[in-house]
Amino acid sequence: MLVTIPDVLTAEEVTHIRRVLETTRWQDGRATAGDQAAAVKKNLQVPLDAPEAQDLGQIILRALGRNPSFTTAALPLRVMPPMFNRYDVGMTFGAHVDNSIRALPTGQRIRTDVSSTLFLTPPEDYDGGELVVHDTYGAHKVKLPPGHMVVYPATSLHSVTPVTRGSRWSAVFWSQSMVRDDWRRHMLYDLDMAIMQTRARLPDDDPAVTTLTAHYHNLLRHWAEM
Ligand code: NI
Repeated sequence: MLVTIPDVLTAEEVTHIRRVLETTRWQDGRATAGDQAAAVKKNLQVPLDAPEAQDLGQIILRALGRNPSFTTAALPLRVMPPMFNRYDVGMTFGAHVDNSIRALPTGQRIRTDVSSTLFLTPPEDYDGGELVVHDTYGAHKVKLPPGHMVVYPATSLHSVTPVTRGSRWSAVFWSQSMVRDDWRRHMLYDLDMAIMQTRARLPDDDPAVTTLTAHYHNLLRHWAEM
């Protein structure tokens, strides 16, 4: 399941993040990739321990906390601090799957169930640089306005096509979901969306609303791992 979430960041937050990133130090992106991914990865990123990466990451984590669409799509248990990356002309990231286990700054390990890319550059400012996510239904190309985000299963092969003009900046991060299985998360997401549509048409004490809502919570209770 691939979900795009508009306006995760406000225009002011995007401007602030871009302004800080303009003055920051970038390093070779292979520093954080596994062996196979490193061989196909050609980009730049802000070092994970850079203070500005941590400050900007907090802005994004706060924005996620106020975003119900992220919560229902990812059902997050733990969220990694975002990494900031950049693709200049000629840079690309070939097909790969992200590392399955990563360590939080506290040393605690998380399983990466859900990948997220938050776009930070207006699409008209660069050519190429599409995120391509492969699933059983084919390849999906994603390029979103700044402040918008795509969420997809971390089990998916994905790539970033070469940038041929301009520079593409984004934040990427992983979440461990309370529901590990993508198909179950997908069913819960569809059910949650259907409940919202039903609640828009029926009063909250309508038996259809009550029963569907109970069903959602009981499925989540059944499948959630913490
Ligand atoms: Ni990746």
